[in-house]
Amino acid sequence: MEFNTKTAAPESVKVDCLAIGVFEDLGPTPSARRVDRATHGAVHAAIASGDMKGKRGSLVVLRSLSGVGCARVALVGLGKSTDFGDKAFSEVVSATVRGCGAGVTTLAFAASDWKVAGRAPSWSVRAMVAAARATRFRSDELKTKASDRPAGEDDGNQRLRITWLAEKRGRELETALRQGEAIANGVELAKRLGNLPANFCTPDYLASQARKLARDWHLKVQIFDRRQIEALGMGSFLSVTHGSVQPPRLIVLRYQGSGGSGFANPVALVGKGITFDSGGISLKPGAQMDEMKFDMCGAAAVFGTMRAIAELKPTVNVVGVVPACENLPSGSATKPGDIVTSMSGQTIEILNTDAEGRLILCDALTYVQRFRPAAIIDIATLTGACVVALGNVHSGLFSKDDELAAELLAAARNAGDSVWRMPIDDDYQDQLKSNFADMANIGTPGNAGSVTAACFLARFVKDQHWAHLDIAGTAYRGGTTKGATGRPVPLLTEFLLARAA
Ligand code: BES
Ligand code: MN
Ligand code: ZN
Repeated sequence: MEFNTKTAAPESVKVDCLAIGVFEDLGPTPSARRVDRATHGAVHAAIASGDMKGKRGSLVVLRSLSGVGCARVALVGLGKSTDFGDKAFSEVVSATVRGCGAGVTTLAFAASDWKVAGRAPSWSVRAMVAAARATRFRSDELKTKASDRPAGEDDGNQRLRITWLAEKRGRELETALRQGEAIANGVELAKRLGNLPANFCTPDYLASQARKLARDWHLKVQIFDRRQIEALGMGSFLSVTHGSVQPPRLIVLRYQGSGGSGFANPVALVGKGITFDSGGISLKPGAQMDEMKFDMCGAAAVFGTMRAIAELKPTVNVVGVVPACENLPSGSATKPGDIVTSMSGQTIEILNTDAEGRLILCDALTYVQRFRPAAIIDIATLTGACVVALGNVHSGLFSKDDELAAELLAAARNAGDSVWRMPIDDDYQDQLKSNFADMANIGTPGNAGSVTAACFLARFVKDQHWAHLDIAGTAYRGGTTKGATGRPVPLLTEFLLARAA
């Protein structure tokens, strides 16, 4: 899929399909009215006939109209202008791309007048790219027959070229397009890795993907194997690996965007890379356990974000750290009650082997401090409790640092990848007391589980600008639309772009 912008009268553009908008309350937009005049009332005729009522996401494709340069005009229902927000915009773009016609290889949006309240044209352009790419995305690399694939992708218009008809030409929209595409590339990488099952997506597979990213995008990469992880003293991380025959990997990716030859004060992204979470000896129930292949979506988000920024080259240094392993039960697996020593020296009583994410992240958080990071953000499908609290709308944001939290909230809003700030104050720390070690790895069952998980991590980042994103509810969907979402790649990329600006 390719994108460009153009300043041209909608009726004159030569494309397979021109998309124009009809609001439910206001009727055709100004550019749609232009097309109506050029076609001697074709738009109004479709409205008068009752075919197009402006209902959000509805589509009527008119063919062979005289007076226009395009073979098809798609009338796109935009819904009520008063309800036309972020979500409506993405929905109507998606409906257009899905429904414009199997033969369409060039599509133009006369959408400059599909104004979203509080959003600049460059936002719309980026959102258009995101929605169009998401509509066409499929995870079908493990399907052998085209007929087994979900409908829509073998319809001949894989190579779609989309033109945004701009009111005026400018660098801003071109930049927005490039950002939109880079973010979509990052999101799709995160989706692909997230969706790939655990028999393919092993810790070593993630390491090979990191090497490939480094090769393709001139990043620096380091992969640590079990012996090297032992040498670092990561007893907490290692405790999670003991039940699996898959060797663990600690993956470090570096992007240098500023500071000459040094790698000064990077933003550190730490992603949970549990390639499968069975719960270990504290075994999970069987229902939907397949979804625990998504337990490496934090890692996937780090990779996707590194991919996006490597393409956009902002002037900011970034280090991505991914501890990767499987959490399985076996005769050699860690047992409830076992006590381990983390890289920080603090001891941990593992009361529940299913609270493993924090056990691998705490050592990664200790490790990353050697880079003297300007900020540390960890990203993890950490707790079911976060899904209970926030569902699949907002990612949970936990930070004691109000400035960093404000930055992330602003980036989330700009990127359309929302977060909700959650508490992390020390009043919850009591729950992590252990009779035998410095701390337990769980709090009181059924009691603020996403907060106590964040409080556990907080013990490893004293005096750091640190934020934790719990993406358990937002990184993937279950049910019939099962699949990774690529979140929070848009948020993280936006955050890094804003830091560089
Ligand atoms: N990976 C899970 C969290 C999770 C649950 C993600 C559901 C997505 C959907 C994590 O490792 C886990 O098992 N957490 C436990 C913690 C508990 C034992 C304190 C949980 O949430 O139940
Ligand atoms: Mn778990
Ligand atoms: Zn987990």
